Amino acid sequence: MTITFKLNGKSVSTGVEPDTPLLWVIRDDFRLTGTKFGCGIAQCGACTVHLNGMPRRSCVTPISQVNGGSVTTIEGLDGKEAQAVQDAWIAIDVPQCGYCQSGQVMSAVALLREVPKPTDTDIDQAMAGNICRCATYVRIRKAIHNAADTLED
Ligand code: FES
Ligand code: FES
Repeated sequence: MTITFKLNGKSVSTGVEPDTPLLWVIRDDFRLTGTKFGCGIAQCGACTVHLNGMPRRSCVTPISQVNGGSVTTIEGLDGKEAQAVQDAWIAIDVPQCGYCQSGQVMSAVALLREVPKPTDTDIDQAMAGNICRCATYVRIRKAIHNAADTLED
Protein backbone atom coordinates (compact mmCIF):
# COMPACT_ATOMS: atom_id res chain seq x y z
CA MET A 1 0.00 0.00 0.00
CA THR A 2 1.32 3.41 -0.92
CA ILE A 3 0.80 6.10 1.67
CA THR A 4 0.87 9.69 0.51
CA PHE A 5 1.02 12.72 2.74
CA LYS A 6 2.50 16.18 2.97
CA LEU A 7 5.80 16.45 4.78
CA ASN A 8 6.83 20.02 5.54
CA GLY A 9 4.61 21.20 2.71
CA LYS A 10 5.84 18.78 0.06
CA SER A 11 3.83 15.80 -1.18
CA VAL A 12 5.65 12.52 -0.41
CA SER A 13 4.87 8.81 -0.66
CA THR A 14 6.10 5.69 1.06
CA GLY A 15 5.48 1.99 0.59
CA VAL A 16 6.41 0.84 4.11
CA GLU A 17 4.17 -1.46 6.14
CA PRO A 18 1.07 0.42 7.39
CA ASP A 19 1.98 -0.13 11.05
CA THR A 20 5.45 1.43 10.66
CA PRO A 21 5.79 4.33 13.12
CA LEU A 22 5.78 7.76 11.51
CA LEU A 23 9.03 8.50 13.38
CA TRP A 24 10.92 5.82 11.42
CA VAL A 25 9.55 7.10 8.12
CA ILE A 26 10.56 10.67 8.93
CA ARG A 27 14.05 9.72 10.04
CA ASP A 28 14.93 6.71 7.88
CA ASP A 29 13.06 7.31 4.63
CA PHE A 30 13.20 11.08 4.51
CA ARG A 31 16.37 11.68 6.52
CA LEU A 32 14.85 14.35 8.70
CA THR A 33 16.70 13.60 11.91
CA GLY A 34 15.68 16.62 13.97
CA THR A 35 12.82 14.54 15.39
CA LYS A 36 14.27 12.29 18.08
CA PHE A 37 13.63 8.81 19.44
CA GLY A 38 13.49 8.75 23.21
CA CYS A 39 11.20 6.10 24.67
CA GLY A 40 9.14 4.73 21.79
CA ILE A 41 6.04 4.48 24.00
CA ALA A 42 4.60 8.01 24.03
CA GLN A 43 6.15 8.85 27.40
CA CYS A 44 8.86 11.43 26.67
CA GLY A 45 7.79 13.73 23.81
CA ALA A 46 11.16 13.72 22.02
CA CYS A 47 9.44 12.53 18.83
CA THR A 48 6.75 15.23 18.76
CA VAL A 49 5.69 16.49 15.33
CA HIS A 50 2.55 18.24 14.15
CA LEU A 51 -0.03 16.15 12.33
CA ASN A 52 -2.65 18.33 10.69
CA GLY A 53 -1.50 21.15 12.96
CA MET A 54 -1.76 19.26 16.25
CA PRO A 55 1.13 17.88 18.31
CA ARG A 56 1.52 14.13 17.87
CA ARG A 57 3.95 11.53 19.22
CA SER A 58 5.37 10.13 16.02
CA CYS A 59 6.82 7.05 17.74
CA VAL A 60 3.33 5.64 18.32
CA THR A 61 1.63 6.98 15.18
CA PRO A 62 1.33 4.28 12.52
CA ILE A 63 2.04 5.67 9.07
CA SER A 64 -1.41 4.45 7.98
CA GLN A 65 -2.93 7.21 10.16
CA VAL A 66 -0.98 9.82 8.23
CA ASN A 67 -2.36 8.95 4.79
CA GLY A 68 -3.71 12.11 3.17
CA GLY A 69 -2.58 14.23 6.12
CA SER A 70 0.00 16.91 6.67
CA VAL A 71 3.06 16.41 8.87
CA THR A 72 5.36 19.19 10.05
CA THR A 73 8.70 18.43 11.67
CA ILE A 74 11.13 20.77 13.37
CA GLU A 75 12.83 21.26 9.99
CA GLY A 76 9.64 22.63 8.41
CA LEU A 77 8.23 24.61 11.29
CA ASP A 78 7.44 28.19 10.33
CA GLY A 79 5.10 31.05 11.07
CA LYS A 80 5.14 33.81 13.66
CA GLU A 81 4.78 31.53 16.69
CA ALA A 82 7.67 29.37 15.49
CA GLN A 83 9.87 32.41 14.99
CA ALA A 84 8.95 33.82 18.40
CA VAL A 85 9.71 30.48 20.09
CA GLN A 86 13.02 30.11 18.27
CA ASP A 87 14.05 33.65 19.22
CA ALA A 88 13.02 33.13 22.84
CA TRP A 89 14.84 29.78 23.05
CA ILE A 90 18.01 31.52 21.91
CA ALA A 91 17.52 34.59 24.12
CA ILE A 92 16.91 32.49 27.25
CA ASP A 93 19.51 29.90 26.20
CA VAL A 94 17.09 27.07 26.94
CA PRO A 95 18.83 23.87 25.74
CA GLN A 96 21.43 21.97 27.69
CA CYS A 97 22.24 18.71 25.84
CA GLY A 98 19.51 19.56 23.32
CA TYR A 99 18.15 16.05 22.80
CA CYS A 100 14.59 16.80 23.90
CA GLN A 101 14.44 20.28 22.45
CA SER A 102 12.88 19.73 19.04
CA GLY A 103 9.97 18.03 20.79
CA GLN A 104 9.79 20.86 23.32
CA VAL A 105 9.69 23.46 20.55
CA MET A 106 6.98 21.57 18.63
CA SER A 107 4.80 21.45 21.76
CA ALA A 108 5.50 25.09 22.64
CA VAL A 109 4.54 26.33 19.17
CA ALA A 110 1.36 24.26 19.22
CA LEU A 111 0.48 25.75 22.62
CA LEU A 112 1.00 29.35 21.48
CA ARG A 113 -1.14 28.77 18.40
CA GLU A 114 -3.98 27.61 20.67
CA VAL A 115 -3.37 29.88 23.68
CA PRO A 116 -1.60 33.12 22.75
CA LYS A 117 -1.09 34.23 26.38
CA PRO A 118 -0.65 31.03 28.40
CA THR A 119 -0.49 30.98 32.19
CA ASP A 120 2.06 28.90 34.08
CA THR A 121 -0.64 26.25 34.49
CA ASP A 122 -1.40 26.27 30.74
CA ILE A 123 2.30 25.83 30.04
CA ASP A 124 2.78 23.09 32.59
CA GLN A 125 -0.23 21.19 31.25
CA ALA A 126 0.73 21.57 27.58
CA MET A 127 4.37 20.66 28.19
CA ALA A 128 3.80 17.88 30.74
CA GLY A 129 4.40 15.14 28.18
CA ASN A 130 7.78 16.54 27.12
CA ILE A 131 10.46 15.21 29.43
CA CYS A 132 13.84 16.89 29.75
CA ARG A 133 16.49 14.84 31.52
CA CYS A 134 18.60 18.02 31.82
CA ALA A 135 15.67 19.64 33.66
CA THR A 136 15.45 22.80 31.55
CA TYR A 137 11.81 23.24 32.59
CA VAL A 138 12.23 26.62 34.27
CA ARG A 139 13.90 28.08 31.18
CA ILE A 140 11.30 26.49 28.90
CA ARG A 141 8.50 28.12 30.85
CA LYS A 142 10.29 31.47 30.83
CA ALA A 143 10.94 31.23 27.09
CA ILE A 144 7.30 30.47 26.33
CA HIS A 145 6.23 33.56 28.31
CA ASN A 146 8.91 35.54 26.47
CA ALA A 147 7.62 34.30 23.08
CA ALA A 148 4.04 35.13 24.05
CA ASP A 149 5.08 38.66 25.03
CA THR A 150 6.84 39.10 21.70
CA LEU A 151 3.76 37.94 19.80
CA GLU A 152 1.62 40.41 21.72
CA ASP A 153 3.74 43.41 20.70
S1 FES B 1 10.00 8.70 21.60
FE1 FES B 1 7.95 9.20 21.27
S2 FES B 1 7.23 9.90 23.18
FE2 FES B 1 9.25 9.19 23.59
S1 FES C 1 18.15 19.59 27.13
FE1 FES C 1 18.96 17.62 27.58
S2 FES C 1 17.22 16.33 27.66
FE2 FES C 1 16.41 18.32 27.51
